[in-house]
This record gives sequence, C-alpha cells and structure tokens, in this order.
Amino acid sequence: MNPFLREKIEVMVGPIQNITVLAEQGWTSEVCQIETEAGIYLMKSSYKEKYREWLKQEANVLEKLHNQNQIPVPAYYGFIEEQDGAHLIMSFEQGVTLRVALKQAETRAEQKALIKSFGHFLQQLHETKIIQTLDRHENWLEEQLAKAEGYVKRGQTDGSVELLEKLKNSKPFPVKQTIIHGDCTIDNVLVKDGEVKLFIDVAGMTVGDPRYDESLAIRKFVNDKEDMDAFYEGYTRYRVSKEELQYFDEGLYEFF
Ligand SMILES: Nc1ncnc2c1ncn2[C@@H]1O[C@H](COP(=O)(O)OP(=O)(O)OP(=O)(O)O)[C@@H](O)[C@H]1O
Ligand SMILES: [Mg+2]
Repeated sequence: MNPFLREKIEVMVGPIQNITVLAEQGWTSEVCQIETEAGIYLMKSSYKEKYREWLKQEANVLEKLHNQNQIPVPAYYGFIEEQDGAHLIMSFEQGVTLRVALKQAETRAEQKALIKSFGHFLQQLHETKIIQTLDRHENWLEEQLAKAEGYVKRGQTDGSVELLEKLKNSKPFPVKQTIIHGDCTIDNVLVKDGEVKLFIDVAGMTVGDPRYDESLAIRKFVNDKEDMDAFYEGYTRYRVSKEELQYFDEGLYEFF
C-alpha cells in the first residue's frame, strides 16, 4: 500500500496492525480487512471511473445513515479519493453473504429458513418510514433510465440501445415509492446466526421502486416454488408479476 494512503487511513482509524485481502471479493471493487488498536475495519477500493462514482455514492449513504438505528448497514468511518482510486472505510461486520450461507446450509429446511428471513428483512426495509436525507429522486425510475442512457452512450454497460428504448416505452404502472436497497441480490446481504441481518453494498440505497429490490432478491430462485413460497412467507406486502420481474431483472438491471 502506498504510504500516503496508509497515512490517510491511519488518521481515520489509528495505526494499522494488519491488512488481509478477503477471500470473497466483489465485482467492482477490492475488499480488505484492516486491523488497528481501535477495531477491525473493512476497506472497499475501486479504480474505474464508473465504480468510483458508485463507491462515492455508497460512502454518502453510509455517512447519512451513521448513528441511526433504523436500517442495519455497516458504520461509516471515512472516504478517501486519490488520483487513481477511491477507498471507503467502514466497520468490519461478522457474517457471510446470503449466497455463501445458502451454499453452506446442510438441509433444505435451513435454506428455506434463510430465504424467508431475507424476505422478512426486505419487507422491514420497505416499510421503514422514509428518511428525508435518503430521498434524492423526483422520479426514481426516470432517473435510472437516464443513467442507463448515459452508460449506453459512454459504452459503460452491456445493456443495448434497443432494450433501453423498450424499457422507456413500457414502464410499469407506478406504485408507492419506499426506501430501497437498489441492488438487493443474495450477494449484498449478510447472514449472522442463521438470519439475514445486514445490508452491504448500499450505493443504490434511496427512495425508489420497491419492485426493483423484490425482483433482484428473487432472481436466483424464481423457478423454485419452495424457495419462492419461503420468500413470500417473509415478504408479504406485494408480489411482483412476471411482467414486472422481467422489466426490472431482465430489463433495467442489465444496465447496472
Ligand atoms: N462491512 C463489511 N464487513 C465484512 N465484510 C464485508 C463488508 N462489506 C463487504 N464485505 C465483503 O466484501 C465482499 C464485497 O463487498 P461488496 O458487495 O460491497 O462489493 P462489490 O460486490 O464489489 O460491490 P458491487 O456489487 O458494487 O460490485 C462481500 O461479498 C463481503 O464478503
Ligand atoms: Mg456486492
């Protein structure tokens, strides 16, 4: 690690005793664990422009949510922007992602209990009273489509112009906006003691369309009736239609 970065980190969390690169890495960032006398921290670093923007957004969200106790997320410690990369320091949280927990589960019953807990956890988020500082959008979907258009123009996405046009012309009927996670896959929640307890990777957390979260949450088990039933035992407030699922998961998500 370059000495300038190290110094900036130490200003935030004290002298570094140990740095370990995590076995489980993300798609758009590098994650490592940093130990100091004061505690254990997670540093998430991004280098490409698009991902640096997301990381900055994530830092923003964590900072706004610091010291609240409504939405379980890691605690914020600081954000460092350098010439060639950006680094977010947050609390290191125990637990494994839901993807890993599902793989490690020894029985179907255990898996279904995890999925039900995921549904319940997401339901709680969608029912949380809107936190004004998180509410950045006039119209969340319009802004996502505009963002997607920017990515298409700059060649920063796999989604096509044709798909984008289709999405613009077939918007689902509006529903009440809620707080959303914004990238609510099984990779972005942590399980502790057999239950989903924490959101991570929160760059997209804002006030928006809860069907986006729901669609991404179920994408991995949408063809498994038992898993779907388990999810909707926990998530009882709404059930996306096939068309909505397609719009959000196979549609909008392609651009992000
Ligand atoms: N606060 C934390 N405490 C402990 N482990 C964490 C924490 N945040 C992230 N991790 C670990 O790091 C991995 C990657 O984190 P994260 O999902 O935030 O990054 P990412 O997947 O690269 O982001 P993106 O989805 O934007 O590509 C997670 O799967 C998890 O194992
Ligand atoms: Mg992630």
